[in-house]
Amino acid sequence: TASDDIAAGLLAWYDRHARDLPWRARPGDPAPDPYRVWLSEVMLQQTTVAAVKSYFAAFTSRWPRVTDLAAAGDDEVMAAWAGLGYYARARNLHACARAVASAGGEFPRTEAELRALPGLGAYTAAAIAAIAFGERAVVVDANVERVVARLFAIDTPLPAARIAIRAAADRITPERRAGDFAQAMMDLGATVCTARSARCLVCPLAAGCAARARGTPEAFPVKPAKKPR
Ligand code: ADE
Repeated sequence: TASDDIAAGLLAWYDRHARDLPWRARPGDPAPDPYRVWLSEVMLQQTTVAAVKSYFAAFTSRWPRVTDLAAAGDDEVMAAWAGLGYYARARNLHACARAVASAGGEFPRTEAELRALPGLGAYTAAAIAAIAFGERAVVVDANVERVVARLFAIDTPLPAARIAIRAAADRITPERRAGDFAQAMMDLGATVCTARSARCLVCPLAAGCAARARGTPEAFPVKPAKKPR
């Protein structure tokens, strides 16, 4: 189907062009470490990959496992977080680590169970379930939203467009390699199909992209209508 072709084309691109990021599985690893996936996804929520890297290294060398982070003092965690901003994230992070530690130290493996952890939202639950545990979860962040809106030329303005965007993301998410698929969409959005420039000449999805066919890929996703004033 067209959806299978999109997933296959994107995964083939990812196999050649995936960014080498410290929280991803190393060649030879069967799967990435759920603790590292969780920590990176929380840090990446309002912060760029470039800014997150040094914090991720500092946290994981000081607290190599979720139980180590759970045992740290609040003040130590807050101090280590300083500079990343949005300090509620650090409080939630620590509460979540303590919940996992007191439940035996292993992260739950499904999107639904992950969602029940303190402060862990829909995006993070889907990302961990797909990336760390291979669940076919639908992972939509701002990069994925833009890629999907362009691929299908979704012309409803944001935020209403999110319903159609999520439905389309669900249709193209493959049964296998859902975590690689999600990260491939994120990498594509971060490095090729950026907000400012769609770079269709190097895009693995260009042949099937409806926004490219219309000639105006950067017009998607459509911005919210301005309120009259
Ligand atoms: N942004 C948020 N999570 C990411 C991931 N796993 N890979 C690349 N970019 C991301």
